[in-house]
Amino acid sequence: MGKIVQQDILEQLEQLRQDAGAALAQANTTEATREWYAEYLGRKGRLTGILRNLGSLPVEERPLVGKVANEVKVALENAVQERQNAIAQAEMEAVRRAESVDVTLPGRTQTLGKLHITTRTLRDIYAIFTAMGFQIYDSPDVETDEYNFQLLNMPPGHPARDMWDTFYTTTPGLILRTHTSSGQIHAMREYAPDPIRVILPGKVYRYEAVDASHESMFYQVEGLAVGKHITFCDLKGVLINFANQMYGEGRQARFRKSYFPFTEPSVEMDIDCVLCNGKGCPVCKYTGWLEILGAGMVHPVVLENGGYDPSRFSGFAFGMGSERMALQKYGIDDIRYFYANDMRLLERV
Ligand code: FA5
Repeated sequence: MGKIVQQDILEQLEQLRQDAGAALAQANTTEATREWYAEYLGRKGRLTGILRNLGSLPVEERPLVGKVANEVKVALENAVQERQNAIAQAEMEAVRRAESVDVTLPGRTQTLGKLHITTRTLRDIYAIFTAMGFQIYDSPDVETDEYNFQLLNMPPGHPARDMWDTFYTTTPGLILRTHTSSGQIHAMREYAPDPIRVILPGKVYRYEAVDASHESMFYQVEGLAVGKHITFCDLKGVLINFANQMYGEGRQARFRKSYFPFTEPSVEMDIDCVLCNGKGCPVCKYTGWLEILGAGMVHPVVLENGGYDPSRFSGFAFGMGSERMALQKYGIDDIRYFYANDMRLLERV
């Protein structure tokens, strides 16, 4: 009887060794090997279950069964250890492969951002004028009719108002400024009776028929100098100096007589068209010249409205369109590209 029991246990142990071996071969993750361990070698596992019967064997038979049981246990423990090592190795290898960097691959090119041409042009203009002693003065985009027209010598009904097609707001008397000249009065009223030399940059708005050289929103940079003994020669000197620095010495500039209600005398300044070298193209309307600014000596009425005594003070003013200048400087053939949000414009210059 005892022999049969011993034989039974030995068979069970052998069966256990085979089952455990086969099951271990199927365990592919660390988690699965833990489950396997609990099932075969754990405290409530199959080996413990078999050895529980050891006590019912005669004493002399126990050593052999104990020895075999121990061999099975050690063999399975070694096997699971080996399996766990192999799985850990494979897992590490997979992570290494997924995260590896191939240092021999060529680098990815970084596309660097650029400033918009308007920003660059404005900064060029600021640099030139601040070096000549002009300060930058900010004034509002939304203006009153009074500052945009009346104080600039254009009372209601003045025909010159038609030079600027205006965007009105729903509030009577409140408009989008049609030019930066409205800022002249703000600056003068702030500084009078001290002399001033300022530039006033910013957006202006016009209900305009848009074409290659006309936008309905564009930037102007106004210039204003007020003091004693300021003459038309100062104005010409400043503008020619500016054009030389902006476009290089070789560019042709010309002054044409003009009319603005807030300056007397008034001029417009043209430069020869960079795009066609003066031959004529759509941007210069086939004249070979492109108007870049209006200017003149500040009208006595405007000086007075600004708080200066026109018998003791004089001044000059100008207003330039920065997109028009950028068209020339960067050789762009249509102003409508500026705010069309087409990246190709930025890549081109
Ligand atoms: C004026 O706006 C005057 N305030 C300029 C001035 C200032 C004269 C101070 C005297 C003293 P004008 O409307 O011509 O003038 O515009 C001035 C400049 O703005 C033009 O020379 C041109 O360079 C630019 N400009 C005018 N209209 C447009 C437009 N629709 N799109 C782009 N640029 C424009």
